[in-house]
Amino acid sequence: MKESFILRGVEFKNRVLVASGTFGYGDELKDVTDANALGGICTKSLSWKPRDGNPPRRIVETPSGMLNSIGLANIGVHSFIQEKLPYLRTLDTVIIANIAASSIQEYCDVLTLLEGQDGVDGYEINISCPNVREGGLNFGTNREMTREITAKLRTLTQKPLIIKLTPNVTHISEFARAVEDAGADAVSVMNTLIGLAVDIYARKPKLSTITGGLSGPAIKPVALAKVYEVAQAVKIPIFGIGGIMTTEDAVEFLLVGASAVQIGTANFVDPSAAMKVAAGLKAFAVKQGLTDVGQLVGAMESNVKVSILQSWL
Ligand code: DHB
Repeated sequence: MKESFILRGVEFKNRVLVASGTFGYGDELKDVTDANALGGICTKSLSWKPRDGNPPRRIVETPSGMLNSIGLANIGVHSFIQEKLPYLRTLDTVIIANIAASSIQEYCDVLTLLEGQDGVDGYEINISCPNVREGGLNFGTNREMTREITAKLRTLTQKPLIIKLTPNVTHISEFARAVEDAGADAVSVMNTLIGLAVDIYARKPKLSTITGGLSGPAIKPVALAKVYEVAQAVKIPIFGIGGIMTTEDAVEFLLVGASAVQIGTANFVDPSAAMKVAAGLKAFAVKQGLTDVGQLVGAMESNVKVSILQSWL
């Protein structure tokens, strides 16, 4: 059973990765999980300088979901290289450095510094943090800025360049087209939806920043629709993200057009969730009589020739 896939010459051993911000820098969970069973690891977003992030409270559980406002807390790219990359280099899995920044120059500086390092296999660009005023959402909701950042970063690397899109726009497919035109190798669809939870007794928002990013099973149907929409619009591969908890969830994402998936919120419930989904996908494909997990990609059948989505594609 073939499980692997290749993106710009980089081979992922299977189609299941852990999503940025949900697996630290790959080392915190090393005693309880086997990261080598993953297709890849997306690191927590890295910025040029370390960031403390937002004040508490930063995480709230919601029905079938989680609302977070971490605020891009991270150790900064220099400490990442010194303290985290040596361990990541020992792993037999693809390492994708996720980058967040408040200016195009900062995105370029972080990527350029990482380019000089062994052990980083590719980049995922976070232009869509919902929790930091200067954290990229103003880029990620502006199509021309999105195009410009992608084009600029493309000139700086020959490694896989993946742009993580926000659902907090009217038509996500227009953004996917812009990054495809600008030379991205893939898109991650999708980042968190903006949400709010209220403490009715205190009459206050539960999160310190009022709103946060909603993730988990609550957003899965939205994410599936976004992946489907993007898959109709672009040829580059899609990393499907949004509330995947089980093998069956991952299969849904592949069927609507994702080439691979990223597991996020499930890691907080079970740090081995992604490894279980990877094994489960293989077993599912075997049971279906397939020879390659990739045969599931885009294999959803429908009698409807033109979905409502396609009226704006
Ligand atoms: C952060 C939170 C998110 O939900 C997200 O998608 C990206 C970044 C954060 O606050 O760090």
